[in-house]
Amino acid sequence: MRVIVEADAEGVSRTAARFVAELVRRQPDCVLGLATGSTPLGLYAELIRLHRQEGLDFARVVTFNLDEYVGLAATHPQSYRSFMQRHLFDHVNLDPRHTHVPDGRALDFEAHCGQYERLILEAGGIDLQVLGIGGDGHIAFNEPGSSLGSRTRLKTLAPETIRDNARFFGGEEAVPRLAVTMGVGTILESRRCLLLATGEAKAGAIRDCIEGPVTAQVTASALQLHRDVAAIVDEPAAGLLARREYYRHVEQAQRLLQSGGLRTVGPTIDHE
Ligand code: PGA
Repeated sequence: MRVIVEADAEGVSRTAARFVAELVRRQPDCVLGLATGSTPLGLYAELIRLHRQEGLDFARVVTFNLDEYVGLAATHPQSYRSFMQRHLFDHVNLDPRHTHVPDGRALDFEAHCGQYERLILEAGGIDLQVLGIGGDGHIAFNEPGSSLGSRTRLKTLAPETIRDNARFFGGEEAVPRLAVTMGVGTILESRRCLLLATGEAKAGAIRDCIEGPVTAQVTASALQLHRDVAAIVDEPAAGLLARREYYRHVEQAQRLLQSGGLRTVGPTIDHE
């Protein structure tokens, strides 16, 4: 896993936006997997800026969101559909027919989840999946104990997640208990994953995800099995990583490789 440590949340958003923008420019009909929560807000703001000021074109981009609360209509202010409209979709030139968020009011959830998986496949699969991480190490709503092979399905929210999200609902009692979520298996099929985390409250989850064992108790740790993941975190979220210094060296070497300065990386690779 590539680990990029930025000084602050702003750096995380800028770097994440560079990954997304580079893909959208190279492959204008790419499929983006999107996440909600406070972490990707800066990324979305930067994408809106790139659209307005640098003409970043989303006309042919297709998006799939990770999850949605069960019971909330799309128009509910706390639904993830309205979150996405408010923070990204309404401000860039995405075709509304190309934006997908699971339906929290589906009549038949089993059929709906199967259809969501089929839509992703028909779109050619997700090229780049943006992910946050929960304090309990979840990705999407794959709470501790979720199968690492799971597909889109209904999931019961963990008490920690209900507590974390109570701030948006004015209290724990109002937080929905169930969500429709892509599975860990669904996420692992994306061609590339960007895992974003900011703030000290995420330091334990980030350590467990990156340096802990692969376990269903920390579903983000399944990303260790994926061949193309960039974890972009700020200093406070990186605070408990034991191999932080090494990750810095890797990024330095990466920059040298990109700029053609490979010879200065170290004497052992200088074979002239
Ligand atoms: P947050 O949520 O970005 O609001 O911290 C992340 C998550 O629970 O996946």
